[in-house]
Amino acid sequence: MQHPIGIGLAGLGNVGAGVFKNLQANRALLRERLGLDLEVRKAAVRDVARRAEEGFPPELLTNRWQDLVEDPQIRIIVEVMGRKEESLQLILAAIAAKKIVVTANKALLAEHGRDIFEAATLHGVPVFYEAAVGGGIPIIKALREALIGNHIISIHGIINGTSNYILTRMREAGLSFPEALAEAQAAGYAEPDPSFDVNGWDAAHKAIILASLAYGFWIPPEQISVEGIESLTAADFRFARQLGYAIKLLGVIKATSSTPGSEIEVRVHPTLVPEKHVLASVNGVFNAVAVHGNVVGETLFYGRGAGQDPTSSAILCDIAEAAEALANPRRNLGFMPHGLYGRCKPLDAVLSEYYVQLWVEDRPGVIAQVAGILGELQIGISSIFQPESPDEGAMVPLVMMIHTASHAQMRAALERINALPCVHRLPRMIRVEHFS
Ligand code: HSE
Repeated sequence: MQHPIGIGLAGLGNVGAGVFKNLQANRALLRERLGLDLEVRKAAVRDVARRAEEGFPPELLTNRWQDLVEDPQIRIIVEVMGRKEESLQLILAAIAAKKIVVTANKALLAEHGRDIFEAATLHGVPVFYEAAVGGGIPIIKALREALIGNHIISIHGIINGTSNYILTRMREAGLSFPEALAEAQAAGYAEPDPSFDVNGWDAAHKAIILASLAYGFWIPPEQISVEGIESLTAADFRFARQLGYAIKLLGVIKATSSTPGSEIEVRVHPTLVPEKHVLASVNGVFNAVAVHGNVVGETLFYGRGAGQDPTSSAILCDIAEAAEALANPRRNLGFMPHGLYGRCKPLDAVLSEYYVQLWVEDRPGVIAQVAGILGELQIGISSIFQPESPDEGAMVPLVMMIHTASHAQMRAALERINALPCVHRLPRMIRVEHFS
């Protein structure tokens, strides 16, 4: 047996500690499977004394990440600091020093994936990032390897566990958004600052990574459309259920046709999903990603999208792949750019079906006014309902399901509907996905 392959661990927070623990626990298994031994040689942390008190071997600890890059015995650097500038500096320095990088940093990849992989290509060094999307679900490897022979027609992903927990509780227990968020925080699911979980941007970072991998170019974050779950109401869940739908925060990624050169859609938003579709049954903190390839058809990947052990499982997979790559240099460095696709569709041109909910006065002619505006803009209503009200003139919800229309059509229609005197409160619009 050769010398162990040295690993530098940047970060010993929840995920880093999990990698350390699971690497020790499964070191012998990995040695048998890889024929290579893996050993953590150093761990860079902010507070050395605190980590030593927690029981990490003091001789491994340093407060300088540069020590990992400068150690010639370290061949693989695992970045789980989850910071911005500092993580980017470390990754670029590690690549320049020809160390293979493993990172779980989804925000960094979504914003700087192109720079990171330009550096990786320049130096011929792989960068692996299985833990950046879907926690323990091996979706990156699936897209990069198992589905390599497919044009990807679409990806629909529940890729934020916290928001899925909140939506599950709103649906199951009729909770309001603030009540469900408080419950998620009390259960330890939401981050201390849950903004990225609920405003859609955590899922958006992951959607950017999946889309970039599927279509061979780094999607500019400013070209995608992102909506969070903060404004969903208990009434939306009641109406959706009456119509046979669940509401999920989905990352929706599509090529507008399976022909190379077609435009790409990348969006994250609350979505009505038919109750009979499998994604409607993905509940609690679980994640799931449905990938439709033009050869394979529909596939589904399901599992825990966060947490110490699932995330470390993904990082162990990357470390193992990194160790193999050291022994057998390779062309695919973790992201193969190509020019078959390359443009994102402008949001206004994106087509969808919609759920629209208005608060209107219950009096003659109201539905005609609303339907008139939709008709003038060539927007078709596929169904409509208004619960019976006690008094004429009372305010009532009006719920409509809308046939396929562009975002621009709907924007124009809702502006005009909102200006009607019989409409109280801002109209609410949620996209509907029927899956092909
Ligand atoms: N906060 C994320 C989630 C997990 O709730 O899914 C890390 O990406």
